[in-house]
Amino acid sequence: MAFYSDDLIEEVISQNDIVEVISEYVHLKKSGRNFMGLCPFHRERTPSFCVSMDKQIFKCFGCSQGGNVITFIMKIENLEFYDALEFLAERAHIDLSKYEIKTFNTKYNESKKDFKETLYKMYKDIAIYYHNNLMELLKEKSNHVKDYIIKRKFDMKTLKRFAIGYANGKIPLYDYLINLGYKKEDILKSDVVVQNEKGKIYDRYFSRLMFPILDVKDKIIAFGGRVLDNSLPKYINSPENDIYHKGKTLYAMNLARKEKLDSIIIVEGYMDAIALQKSGVTNAVASLGTALTENQARLIKKYTDNVIIGYDQDGAGQEATLRGLDILVAKNLNVKVLVLDKKDVKDPDEYINKYGVERFRNCVKNAISLVEFKISKLEKDLDVNNVDTKIKFLTGVADILAKIDNNIEREIYIEKVSNKYKIATGPILKEVERKIKSSMSKNDDLVIDTQMLNRKMRLVTNMKKRQEQYIIALLLSKDKEIIKEIFDKIKLEDIENKEVKKVYSFLIDLSKTNDLSKIDVITKIHDEELMKEITDIMYIDISQTDRKKLLTDVLKNKMKERLYLRRDEILKRTSENISKDEMEILQLELNQIIVELSKLK
Ligand code: UTP
Ligand code: MN
Repeated sequence: MAFYSDDLIEEVISQNDIVEVISEYVHLKKSGRNFMGLCPFHRERTPSFCVSMDKQIFKCFGCSQGGNVITFIMKIENLEFYDALEFLAERAHIDLSKYEIKTFNTKYNESKKDFKETLYKMYKDIAIYYHNNLMELLKEKSNHVKDYIIKRKFDMKTLKRFAIGYANGKIPLYDYLINLGYKKEDILKSDVVVQNEKGKIYDRYFSRLMFPILDVKDKIIAFGGRVLDNSLPKYINSPENDIYHKGKTLYAMNLARKEKLDSIIIVEGYMDAIALQKSGVTNAVASLGTALTENQARLIKKYTDNVIIGYDQDGAGQEATLRGLDILVAKNLNVKVLVLDKKDVKDPDEYINKYGVERFRNCVKNAISLVEFKISKLEKDLDVNNVDTKIKFLTGVADILAKIDNNIEREIYIEKVSNKYKIATGPILKEVERKIKSSMSKNDDLVIDTQMLNRKMRLVTNMKKRQEQYIIALLLSKDKEIIKEIFDKIKLEDIENKEVKKVYSFLIDLSKTNDLSKIDVITKIHDEELMKEITDIMYIDISQTDRKKLLTDVLKNKMKERLYLRRDEILKRTSENISKDEMEILQLELNQIIVELSKLK
């Protein structure tokens, strides 16, 4: 585990806006200065989960969990503190190696890390091996591999850029790798060879065009191998291992990310991504045939907010588009769908090879919105010429349109649908309104009941506790003078409330080694109860309050409390059987207290 400086922690927090980060997991709605949503940490039907943009913290007023952006990632991704920190650093493109103080590697991690490094190196050597094979074959006058390369319109630059190769098994990979000095056990753990029951070791890929898959750091992490004919399986891909996680990878993302990205085009296959990149469409990446995953969406979100799905135009591709749309939209990405304006081609690769890049770019420009895509898909699935299906179509369309939040946007679509399908706006509007009403009455989960929320917040605390919470709130205000004055004047014993006392005690300790005006206190908290209390306090809004005056008030109150307490003790004592001397002293003290109390009023 590595240890990082406070500077880095501050940097990571400041580069990861909490509202943005949480929006990738929770549907948030703005409510005043805060954002509200359904708590991801407990089941609820009305939102109590509150994210503060100003304070960069979150708090659930239902289950009382709270914290900052690091706490959130720890909880939701189930990560340890440093892993969450690294996760967020990566999200913000912060180079951690610059900040690393010390590394204490356990033996296990060391060997795992070593193995990863070995694998990266081995994969690179393997890619070179496959690539050189291909280059050799291309030098020959003619062969079926060369024919295929020509047929698929690969040029030399592309073959090199994508490190494309060919697995012909001229030398068994195993021998080749042993010769390069790799250990048998490491070679076996890589996926490029397989061992049969008798112990014989074979190449996994044979007679296949080889595509190395690179991660965003340009390291080869896997391979895909395509046959040159129609035999099956068409592709064999590396299984997942320590360095390859299919659902977290996008093919060609390492290239796309090097460009200034306004948007990313996701296509299905190796061939599509390569064809587009080759033609200068440098923002094309491939999801490699599987359904898009949340992790892939998150990866995209690191680089841009705008995505165009350019999947195959066949039924399977369109179904995958629909699923992909939902995943991307859930991550708050703006999604459009590419429609190829020629129906005799099935994917971007074929399109661009047949109709050229300019025409392709035009399709990208005309990519349709989520709503339009859903409507046109509905149209394809139904036969709109017949009366029955036309009604079905209309209700389906209304369903789609009713989900649009923005009134104007909805109007525009109603207009469009009306024009395109020759249905009067009246009936569509009526149907949409009916759908909206019925969905509202069912349950609009995100109608925020501010009154109830305030009640919940108020219930948490009583006035006396509130006074003590103010002290902590002031301590957290990062004002040096205020912090000093509080520590000078308020002792731990002065705090009555158990929870607040715990926080105060923690802050006293923390201040011995840290400057509270500079650090992010939340990252120092590793105790659940403490976190709950401190985030409660952070939601007490003192931003509009005169802090100096608040401080004077709370100090005054504390002083008064102390005096009253002492007064009651004296009164009790004087009612007992005590000596004259003691009585006199107590009388004197009591007089003093009365004077001081009157001054404080
Ligand atoms: P496609 O069949 O569209 O392949 O599958 P492609 O890359 O466009 O290749 P061509 O143009 O037909 O030559 C899309 C992606 O699905 C994955 C691959 O990642 C492929 O690029 N796939 C497909 C497999 O993993 N295995 C298969 O057998 C088929
Ligand atoms: Mn294809």
